[in-house]
Amino acid sequence: MHDDQAAHISVDTLLVHAGRNPAAHHGIVNPPVYHCSTVLFDSLAHLQQTRLDRASGAFVGFTYGREGTPTTRALEDAVTALEGGYRAVTTSCGLGAISASLMAFLRAGDHLLIVDSVYGPARHFCEDILRKFGVTVEFFAPLIGADIATLFRPETRVVYLESPCSLTFEVMDVPAITAACRHRGITTIIDNTWASPICFRPIAHGADVVVHAATKYISGHSDLMLGLAVCTEEKFIPVKKTASAAGYCGGPDDIYMALRGLRTLGIRMARHQQSATTIAQWLQTRPEIARVMYPALPNDPGHALWLRDFTGASGLFGATLAPCSEGQFAAMLDHLALFKLGYSWGGFESLIVPTYPQTLRSATAWQASGPCIRLHIGLEDPADLIADLERGFARLRHAA
Ligand SMILES: Cc1ncc(COP(=O)(O)O)c(C=O)c1O
Repeated sequence: MHDDQAAHISVDTLLVHAGRNPAAHHGIVNPPVYHCSTVLFDSLAHLQQTRLDRASGAFVGFTYGREGTPTTRALEDAVTALEGGYRAVTTSCGLGAISASLMAFLRAGDHLLIVDSVYGPARHFCEDILRKFGVTVEFFAPLIGADIATLFRPETRVVYLESPCSLTFEVMDVPAITAACRHRGITTIIDNTWASPICFRPIAHGADVVVHAATKYISGHSDLMLGLAVCTEEKFIPVKKTASAAGYCGGPDDIYMALRGLRTLGIRMARHQQSATTIAQWLQTRPEIARVMYPALPNDPGHALWLRDFTGASGLFGATLAPCSEGQFAAMLDHLALFKLGYSWGGFESLIVPTYPQTLRSATAWQASGPCIRLHIGLEDPADLIADLERGFARLRHAA
C-alpha cells in the first residue's frame, strides 16, 4: 500500500492490508518467511551501494540477516502505518526496543527524565546500565503534565513516558509533556504496549519514538518475544544505527507470527476491552477489593485524560485488595482454574500476578493497605472468569 493511501484509510482496513504485497509474491496472501544470515550480491557495485546505504543510515537494501529481511520490513511497515510513523526498527524483545531507543539519544553527561511508574526492567536498565555509562537518571511523577518543564536541565536529552503506567495505570498528559519537550528539542520516547496502535497513537500526540513489546498484543498468542521502535523521520536513523550496532534483531519465525497475529489485533482489542470493563466493574462491587485501576472506568482518576487521548482500552488492569493475610492471598491465587499465574500479558488467555509497586518507585510514594494484583483479561467468556474469581474470593474468606 502506498503511504498516501495509508494516511487516509481506517485502522481496521490498515490491519488487513498494511505490510502486504501479494503481487510481489506470486499472489500469495502473506509474505514469505525469509530465513537468512548471508545475502548474496550480484555485483561489486551492488555490494558497495549497500555499504553506502548502511553508512548513511538509509538502510534501504538487504545486506545481512541481522539487519532485517523482507519479512522484517513487512512487519515494520505494517506497524509503522498503524502508528503513523516514518519507519520502525525490530528488536528481539520489547526491552530491546526500549534500550536501543534510549541509547540512541543518550551519552555520558546527559540527563534522562523517566516516569517513576515505568515498566520495572526499563527502570533497571536506566539504573544499572545507563548510570554506569555516565547518564544522570531522574524519575518523575506520572501526573506531572506540563510541569515536566520545571525539571529540564541544559543537558536533558530524553523524556521517557509510559501511559498508562505499569502496575498502577496512571494516565499521563502526553500532549502536554511532548509539547514542553519539543519546545526544548528534547526527544520523547513512549512505551505504547498497553494501548497498542489501536487505542493510542502517540506520534499524533507529539512523541518521537514509540516502543512496543510486540511480545504482547501485537502478536497476541503468548508464543514469541519481539520488540519494535516506531520512529519519526528525524529519529529513525539514530535508533536503527544503535540497534544495528548493538546487535538487536528479531527471529524470522517470530516476526512472521507477529505479522499473522497483527491481522486480528482490532477485534481482539475490542473484546479485551469489553470483557475487562465487565470484570473491572464487577470487582468494584466486591468487598475483597479496595480499588480497581483501569482508566476505562468512569471513576478512575485517569478517565478524563484517557477519554481525551485514547480510542480504546486493553485488557490489562490493576487492583488492590482489602487487607488480608498472606495465607488468604495465596488461597485465592493458588487454585484459580482459568486465571493462570504468570508474567506477560496481551495473549488470548487470562493471567493474574501479584505486584509490588512500592518496590519500583523512588520519586513518588505508593501505599496500599492490602496486596496488589495485575489481571490480564483474555478472550474467554467473562462470566466464566467472574465465576473463577468468585470462587477465589470464597477461598480467601475461608482461609486463615
Ligand atoms: C509495558 C511493557 N513494556 C515492555 C515490556 C518488555 O517486553 P519484552 O518482555 O518483550 O521484553 C513489557 C513486558 O512485560 C511491558 O509490560
